Amino acid sequence: MTDHGKDDTGTRILIDGLGKTYRRDGKDTEAIEDISLEIRQGELVSFIGPSGCGKTTLLKLIAGLIPPTGGTVEIDGRSCTTPGADRGMVFQDFALLPWRSVRKNVELGLEIAGVPKAERRERAENYIKLVGLEKFADSKVYELSGGMKQRVAIARSLVVRPDVVLMDEPFGALDAQTRNIMQAQLIDILGSTDQTIIFITHSVDEAIYLSDRIVVLTKRPTTIREIIDIPWERPRDRSAPEFNVLKKRILDYLEKENVMEN
Ligand SMILES: Nc1ncnc2c1ncn2[C@@H]1O[C@H](COP(=O)(O)OP(=O)(O)OP(=O)(O)O)[C@@H](O)[C@H]1O
Ligand SMILES: [Mg+2]
Repeated sequence: MTDHGKDDTGTRILIDGLGKTYRRDGKDTEAIEDISLEIRQGELVSFIGPSGCGKTTLLKLIAGLIPPTGGTVEIDGRSCTTPGADRGMVFQDFALLPWRSVRKNVELGLEIAGVPKAERRERAENYIKLVGLEKFADSKVYELSGGMKQRVAIARSLVVRPDVVLMDEPFGALDAQTRNIMQAQLIDILGSTDQTIIFITHSVDEAIYLSDRIVVLTKRPTTIREIIDIPWERPRDRSAPEFNVLKKRILDYLEKENVMEN
């Protein structure tokens, strides 16, 4: 059991010998060399690694947006070769519809899923509140700041309640204070659902604060360097000695491989 009391006996996502080489204009870029990993239902697993190592590529492979050049990704035994309603993605660049209102953007996934209008409204309303944008529900997305757009993207992916949420640096554009609030809210949301979260971040602090496990990646072509279990109860104390010892260890490694933030 994880510390939020979920049944984590069943394997949800099975990544086996996954590899990806991009081929463009006769030039090969090997992004992912070889990744194998099992992720249990209800787990929050974060991936951290050097800039450009292949994190977004990995998420797109799990989302079924691009095909692998080696290996497989399966969810509950089904191959993830196409996108599906069981997986929701928060993109690094938001991927919002700028001319639609916040409300309409958040309702989009529900619309596609055929959820009736009244229910759509209500569910969207809840998630808009959750990310603190109720005053902006009718604003057009292009009018918002980067951090606000990011919150719309988060609400839009969570409102559909997919079994697996794929988050690509979802809090990267937020100021430190909003970021901490969103992290705490994500833990609350997780505590009350059985959603599996795959979370990419550049922040070691964020990874330790949120994750059941942290997968540390090598530089490109990427592979798993280390998998770290974090059994501590949530909410976690950022000032605890063990928190900071672990943080320093991961940071030292990433700095050697070329990186990055706190
Ligand atoms: N469509 C593409 N065609 C060719 N090469 C690509 C394509 N998308 C990504 N790459 C290359 O693959 C490598 C991994 O890219 P990816 O975006 O997955 O890295 P990342 O770890 O998410 O980077 P960042 O830390 O900047 O978010 C990079 O060298 C990138 O230039
Ligand atoms: Mg990326």
